[in-house]
Amino acid sequence: MLQLPPLALYIHIPWCVKKCPYCDFNSHGQKGALPQDDYVGALLRDLEQDLPLVWGRTVTSIFFGGGTPSLFSAGHIAAILDGVAARIRLRPGLEVTLETNPGTTEFDRFGGYREAGVNRISFGVQSFDDGCLARLGRIHDSAQAERAVKLAQDAGLDNINLDLMYALPGQNLEMAELDVQRALDLSPAHISHYQLTLEPNTLFHARPPSGLPDEDGAWDMQERCQALLAEAGFAQYEVSAYAREGRQCQHNLNYWRFGDYLGIGAGAHGKLTLPAEQRILRRWKTKHPDAYLAAAGSPQAIGGDEALEPAQLPFEFMLNALRLGEGFDLGLFEQRTGLGREAIMPALRSGQIRGWLAEEGDHWRPTPFGARFLNDVMASFLPD
Ligand SMILES: C[S@@+](CC[C@H](N)C(=O)[O-])C[C@H]1O[C@@H](n2cnc3c(N)ncnc32)[C@H](O)[C@@H]1O
Ligand code: SF4
Repeated sequence: MLQLPPLALYIHIPWCVKKCPYCDFNSHGQKGALPQDDYVGALLRDLEQDLPLVWGRTVTSIFFGGGTPSLFSAGHIAAILDGVAARIRLRPGLEVTLETNPGTTEFDRFGGYREAGVNRISFGVQSFDDGCLARLGRIHDSAQAERAVKLAQDAGLDNINLDLMYALPGQNLEMAELDVQRALDLSPAHISHYQLTLEPNTLFHARPPSGLPDEDGAWDMQERCQALLAEAGFAQYEVSAYAREGRQCQHNLNYWRFGDYLGIGAGAHGKLTLPAEQRILRRWKTKHPDAYLAAAGSPQAIGGDEALEPAQLPFEFMLNALRLGEGFDLGLFEQRTGLGREAIMPALRSGQIRGWLAEEGDHWRPTPFGARFLNDVMASFLPD
């Protein structure tokens, strides 16, 4: 039987100062002043429209993602959070993260964000090398990033994540290590360390930049940086996520444990368990900010609804759970998918024989060898 998992809330802010050439997120370069008031109203109408799907449930984390949520004033973030709290129950003390581009924090907004209820800041730092930042088309330099992080810390925000990317154009092993070292020097609670990927529909994909490290070079960077992070007390708990003890991102952990989430905002995705109907629904919202603003709260703002077929569920679950170093319990698979364990036992056993997966009682986790070939491991759970 499907059981109700924790429920998170994702809030998408779809604008950036300028589009980065490697980015395929639903983000749009800002043209003139942002319609902040209108967008706050649209988000709350959007939430109201979704409420019948989650009556009586409690939100356990909130994540403002983008785009660049830090383009919104503290007053507007407060209006969103107050409006959310007036419409759905929030777990006391829940994690509330706001993604921030360090090039958008000239003014001391962090005190206001904190007062609004934000208690975790995730900075898109990418690199501390000014040449790399310029080649990535970033709007800030390393000094601005360091200043922004210190401003947040001075405002009393101590739960800070820094996003870094590696395998950057013109980057060598020493430079990648130095980026991690400079991130550690700022004493964050969490570091996300992503390999730069050339995503379809980006400028970098159409015209790859010169000086990209090859696969072996990227692998060396990952291994060395993993070791540096481990020495500094940052345990890797997911493919790209490293945290000090007790500082894992609760919101992302819920995704990876195949929890539920509401998604509001342009192009936002949600996943909701409907136990009475014994099914899982995916819902996404209209992608373009103008169309979303015009339609939010009406059926036209629903980009699509899709019920997940039982045959898809093993792969959907593994796509998330196998990203976690901790792996998963068979009981969790059963609760979150409503399927019996026999649905995945043959694929688990075959992964075990190949050395991809390790078993401890009812608990399964990827081996270090499996972690290197994670896409193949996940694909082995696809329906025939
Ligand atoms: C929505 S952005 C974070 C906040 C803000 N928009 C910024 O960039 O400063 C999420 C993160 O995804 C990572 N990212 C974006 N595009 C990527 C790509 N093509 N390859 C790897 N990581 C990427 C970056 O580290 C980025 O900080
Ligand atoms: S990486 Fe961040 S700042 Fe750059 S376009 Fe994407 S969402 Fe915007």
